[in-house]
Amino acid sequence: MPYFSYKNGILHAENVALNAIAQQFGSPTYVYSKAALTANFSAYADACRQHSLAPDSSLICYSVKSNSSLAVLQLLNRLGSGFDIVSGGELLRVIAAGGDPRKVIFSGVGKSREEMRLALSHDILCFNIESIPELHRLNEVAAAMGKHAAISLRVNPNVDAKTHPYISTGLKENKFGVAYEDALACYRTAAALPNITVAGIDCHIGSQLLDDAPLLEALDKLIELVDQLAAEGIHLHHLDIGGGIGITYDDEKPVAIGDYLGRLFARITAWRQEKYQGAPIKVLFEPGRSIAGNAGILLTEIQYLKHSEAKNFAIVDAAMNDLMRPAMYEAWHGVQTVARRSSAEQVYDVVGPVCESGDWLARSRSLAIEAGDLLALMSAGAYGMTMSSNYNTRGRAAEVMVDGGQAHLIRQRENPADLFALENLLA
Ligand code: LLP
Repeated sequence: MPYFSYKNGILHAENVALNAIAQQFGSPTYVYSKAALTANFSAYADACRQHSLAPDSSLICYSVKSNSSLAVLQLLNRLGSGFDIVSGGELLRVIAAGGDPRKVIFSGVGKSREEMRLALSHDILCFNIESIPELHRLNEVAAAMGKHAAISLRVNPNVDAKTHPYISTGLKENKFGVAYEDALACYRTAAALPNITVAGIDCHIGSQLLDDAPLLEALDKLIELVDQLAAEGIHLHHLDIGGGIGITYDDEKPVAIGDYLGRLFARITAWRQEKYQGAPIKVLFEPGRSIAGNAGILLTEIQYLKHSEAKNFAIVDAAMNDLMRPAMYEAWHGVQTVARRSSAEQVYDVVGPVCESGDWLARSRSLAIEAGDLLALMSAGAYGMTMSSNYNTRGRAAEVMVDGGQAHLIRQRENPADLFALENLLA
């Protein structure tokens, strides 16, 4: 089902016209489709049900950083999701949205003592450890609280995810994880620490992957380590393959979730049968973009058209502070006019009001537009709102979740007064 589609010449989110949303809630506004989020999550959940070894032997931990709106987290929690977090703030969001901390895994290279204490006090499922000093710090913090921390080691399998260098994380030169060669020694250290419980192994090799081959390659490397650890008497309960499956922004053709999970579970099942008499290992996933990315758009209004000798510009009311991906990665987002015009198209750069040449949202697009028209920047549901800022003292956009024929305001637009509410003047 297309979740963003034209009906009578007007672009809709499910059954709600986007011009009606702009009229009611203003612009720029992020608009999400509840049905799209549900379907994207279900692609994982259905494949897990179909292929995993035992009913409870998989857990989808939605990557909160991709879209952390409370309503999005609430929806995913109701669908049975766990959560992958990278900060204490994200844990508090999960809890505020009704999520279960016992289904939370904590990733990230720089966890502070305070964040560790917070996560331990809520009995999260697992810390994904990225270095030896982090392991020692966690052991100390847990000891002081009289607790045991369950850990997994984020191993860097050194496979090439063949994606943008900024979002590739599994190569040797990345700051993430522990080197594959050092993993066994790290596990031995972890197993000897009194307040650490070794629970699993994990990796995350990159984002916007279109092919699952690098992920299956990484899986094989993790499997090798699990076997080596078992031979030393260190038995792991879960294997976390991370997130990373990409989406269609333009004409990319990402692997279907069901196909990827089918291949992954087939490999795991064969391995468990061969080596462990079929005893299951729990499989964790950390998907973000493939759940939220194509479930959202950024709605924006054209303020001015400007025609210079070299270029035509459509100056819109959204900017790089709202959607950072083009400026940061030269990322491509589709641009659709909310109401179709029959006039001739011209080639435009779609730019925002921020005082930076890098403030562009789309380049060289053929559009039939006038000032005052609404545009939708497509595929903006992941790493859109979560990466937005207040640069130029611009309040962040409103967020709306559409459910069939209903539009719910899930985040109000920020007012300038909200932006300086925490500031103090000098005495
Ligand atoms: N797990 C870990 C440890 C991660 O670092 C990430 C993303 C994920 C899971 C989720 O990956 P996904 O399924 O969304 O690919 N801001 C960039 C993307 C950065 C991804 C960072 N890590 C962008 O806008 O493209």
